[in-house]
Amino acid sequence: MKIAIIGAGNVGGTLGKAWAARGHDVVFGVRDPHDRKLDELLKDSGGRAQAASVRNAVAAADIVVLAVPWGSAQDAIRGAGDLRGKVVVDATNPLKPDLSGLALGHTTSAGEEIARWAAGAKVVKAFNTIGAQHMANPRFDGQSASMFICGDDAAAKKTVASLAAALGFEPVDAGPLTQARLLEPLALLWISMAYAYGQGTDIAFRLLRR
Ligand SMILES: NC(=O)c1ccc[n+]([C@@H]2O[C@H](COP(=O)([O-])OP(=O)(O)OC[C@H]3O[C@@H](n4cnc5c(N)ncnc54)[C@H](OP(=O)(O)O)[C@@H]3O)[C@@H](O)[C@H]2O)c1
Repeated sequence: MKIAIIGAGNVGGTLGKAWAARGHDVVFGVRDPHDRKLDELLKDSGGRAQAASVRNAVAAADIVVLAVPWGSAQDAIRGAGDLRGKVVVDATNPLKPDLSGLALGHTTSAGEEIARWAAGAKVVKAFNTIGAQHMANPRFDGQSASMFICGDDAAAKKTVASLAAALGFEPVDAGPLTQARLLEPLALLWISMAYAYGQGTDIAFRLLRR
């Protein structure tokens, strides 16, 4: 698959490298494609990843992953150009700048706002409920972490589920995009337990069934 990743930081860099290692064509959409800080990431991606402007990266891709801070999300979508018909994977969490909570919720979500900004795109919320350090290896003591996915387009969710499964996650369809109102606070639960309430960062959520 041709995957554009907007943002080459913790989340974008980890996902891009891992998908490149699994044979996908990855292009990081960045503000400065010549930035030397990308050198190591591109080298570690084994020649299967490139860097380009956000617009060029998106133009050539079927799937676009949004991995920028919430405060930059609207700007990044604006810079992405025509997203109609593309699968846009929203990995953002709308954190307040001081991380004290979410900047929006209950009656909307980052996922839904992004769907409003990215007219005609098939927005899928995913990769927001676990620390980036686990995204390339979500196995915990022999069990796969769940990756909760929500969105309004069934085929787009299937595609994103297959990308999550390729990394080792157990994909879980959590329902329509409005469910992002629940997945974003779930991310805050992970962050607060990991960094403030003593659980540490080696934790993950898994849905159990019987
Ligand atoms: N870190 C985690 O464990 C984690 C886990 C799940 C979800 N998330 C969410 O994922 C998102 C990314 O987090 P992160 O930790 O990967 O952040 P990060 O390491 O700070 O990386 C952010 C990336 O976004 C780029 N960026 C910022 N503004 C941009 C713009 N207007 N246009 C294009 N690129 C832009 C930055 O590029 P420059 O180098 O040019 O600034 C950088 O490459 C956040 O919304 C976060 O809440 C994070």
